Amino acid sequence: MDPAEKLVSRYRELACSAPEGIWFAPGRVNLIGEHTDYNDGFVLPFALERRAVVAAGHRHDDLIVMHAADLSETVELPLSDLSPGREGWAAYLAGVLWVLREEGYPIAPATLVLTSNVPLGAGLSSSAAIECAVMAAACDLFGLDIAPMERARLAQRAENVYVGAPTGILDQAASILCHAGHGLFLDCRTFETTDVPLPLRGQGFEILVLDTRTPHSHVEGEYGERRATCERAAAILGVRALRDVTDLDTALARLPDELMRRRVRHVVSENDRTCAALKLARKGRLADLPPLLNESHASMRDDYEITVPTVDLAVETALAHGALGARMTGGGFGGCIIAWCFSGQAEHIGSAIREAFEKVGFQEPSWFTAVPADGAGRLS
Ligand code: GLA
Repeated sequence: MDPAEKLVSRYRELACSAPEGIWFAPGRVNLIGEHTDYNDGFVLPFALERRAVVAAGHRHDDLIVMHAADLSETVELPLSDLSPGREGWAAYLAGVLWVLREEGYPIAPATLVLTSNVPLGAGLSSSAAIECAVMAAACDLFGLDIAPMERARLAQRAENVYVGAPTGILDQAASILCHAGHGLFLDCRTFETTDVPLPLRGQGFEILVLDTRTPHSHVEGEYGERRATCERAAAILGVRALRDVTDLDTALARLPDELMRRRVRHVVSENDRTCAALKLARKGRLADLPPLLNESHASMRDDYEITVPTVDLAVETALAHGALGARMTGGGFGGCIIAWCFSGQAEHIGSAIREAFEKVGFQEPSWFTAVPADGAGRLS
């Protein structure tokens, strides 16, 4: 059954009526600009065709009824009981309604039925996709006039406070603000955005997204630990955030330990690479982007230390089999890589990585070719 049809039929079973609408929000890959968002820096993601989809409508009782169609699970709670502390998939839905209510928006009883084809825990923002689809549904359903970037910030707050993951604005901004055929350059301090044309096919390229099937998690230590080190470094350097470091060598000389110096070097150099990518892409020089991806990966591997053996092997194998550039994408410690290749090469490169994984006994990876897609919206 078509996913939208399945959603509507589940909705009918639960609510005994048709949904008032169907909304979606996509996952993303980050082309470049990793672990820069919480340092007030720059990111350049694009949205994927993989999406979370939510069918929703009002209820006549006092309940929020949430159903995950892919798991056949339902969670019901009284509207008055939205407070944080919930775990599992329902936290991503309830968290968004909670944050809206916290902000004083009129939230009413509703049924929400969810499906998603964004791979879970693969670093493609499966959680932001759910949050942003619910945000789109809630804004239309309850008549809330909230600007796109503010929606992203509220969804981020749901993730930070309700779900408990100390993430930045990258994922939610990408899921809401991206446009088909474009990357989204975002200044994470001013929230200014620039749509960056990415005519991949037109210039003879395609981007492979390969899931190494190494699960990652943000709620746990490493992500928060990187973030805390950056904040400590900024405090020592007397700047508001690492985004404000303009002279890297002078800054490094003032930092007390080697580990902190490496973390700072990643963030500052990654910001420079992301700005360089923007300049090149704006001039239409897409062919000059892949070396920046390679530098970004090396920096994540050697300085920020957020890659893992599966990810490094996938990147090395991609490059050895014709990719022009490759890097891990997302928070790290597993998840996906992207490989920038000539058109028609992605399949061959994916297969080469599968063989390399098989040789060393890693799990079989999965992959697809990414097409820059639209951010959140209404399907019907
Ligand atoms: C995760 C977080 C983002 C960002 C990236 C790393 O995806 O959710 O906010 O920090 O990691 O760039």
